[in-house]
Amino acid sequence: MNDNRTPVTVLGLGRIGATIAEIFLRNGHPTTVWNRSSGKAAQLDELGAVRVETVGEAVAASALIVVAAADTATSAAVLASAPDAVRGRTVVNLATGRPDEARELAAWIAEHHGQYLDGGILGVPQTLGTPDTMVMYSGSPEGQAEHGETIAELGTAKYLGSDAGLAALHDMAVLAGMYGLFSGFFQAVAMVDSESFPVGEFTESFLMPWLRSIIDVLPTMAAEIDSRQFEVNFSDLAANQAGLRNIRAASRNQGVATDLLDPLQRIFDEQVELGNGADSFTRAVSGILGVAVPSKS
Ligand SMILES: NC(=O)c1ccc[n+]([C@@H]2O[C@H](COP(=O)([O-])OP(=O)(O)OC[C@H]3O[C@@H](n4cnc5c(N)ncnc54)[C@H](OP(=O)(O)O)[C@@H]3O)[C@@H](O)[C@H]2O)c1
Repeated sequence: MNDNRTPVTVLGLGRIGATIAEIFLRNGHPTTVWNRSSGKAAQLDELGAVRVETVGEAVAASALIVVAAADTATSAAVLASAPDAVRGRTVVNLATGRPDEARELAAWIAEHHGQYLDGGILGVPQTLGTPDTMVMYSGSPEGQAEHGETIAELGTAKYLGSDAGLAALHDMAVLAGMYGLFSGFFQAVAMVDSESFPVGEFTESFLMPWLRSIIDVLPTMAAEIDSRQFEVNFSDLAANQAGLRNIRAASRNQGVATDLLDPLQRIFDEQVELGNGADSFTRAVSGILGVAVPSKS
């Protein structure tokens, strides 16, 4: 049964690495595993995993090497302990890291005659191997052509092209969006909690329905930003400048700090001062872009 399946190696048997190894084993891949500390993920032994003592042995064992260490810097350090072994291998680093770290590791693997793919996992161990987990990855087109099908066993796989840093950028950007959501959530619940209103009831009955509906306007807002025209589809910047001021004043009146909202207010204010108040409030993005977006007037 194993004959047609690509032999894989998994380096790092934490929550993610152990789950990845289990998926490969259940799918019939001959699977070699290595972990820094011994005795991790004992369930893999019953499934037929080959456990080895050194990174060199582990990398030498398979054509496809999946690294699931704590972060990309750790993945790089693990691989650096067996530099010669990566020759002719495709390394897929699924640990979280920055784009610059991914590009640096890609260059190191290329120097050592291997192929590098860098990926990010949007999901949890429980959803790995199902369509509910997205695996974004980028890097070596040859590595993708050779091993894309195997990588797709881990979830809904999206290949973003040859720049090894692009998947990490998408990963970090998605997480940035998530923290923005959490930031709004924290502010909102602090406001109602200040009147001892149950946060759970507010969240489920008021906040979640609103956020679910508001999420549908994001593609239109994204189109406003892509066009750099900032045409108003929903609301202009001046109205949002005033609205946010009110929300901050209401927060302060409740004794709730406004630290999470203040930076956005500063950007709205700056953009209105620049004469962009009649633009869509998506204009705020030009306040944080690395390149200046000129005002229309
Ligand atoms: N868990 C999630 O839901 C989730 C979701 C998406 C992405 N991720 C990402 O996936 C990666 C792995 O996460 P995880 O949840 O599996 O983490 P974890 O359970 O904490 O496992 C970390 C792994 O890294 C190894 N490690 C740590 N420091 C090391 C070092 N200096 N040298 C060698 N190995 C080292 C650990 O080995 P030891 O066993 O020896 O400590 C272990 O195998 C992370 O980058 C994380 O951001 C996780």
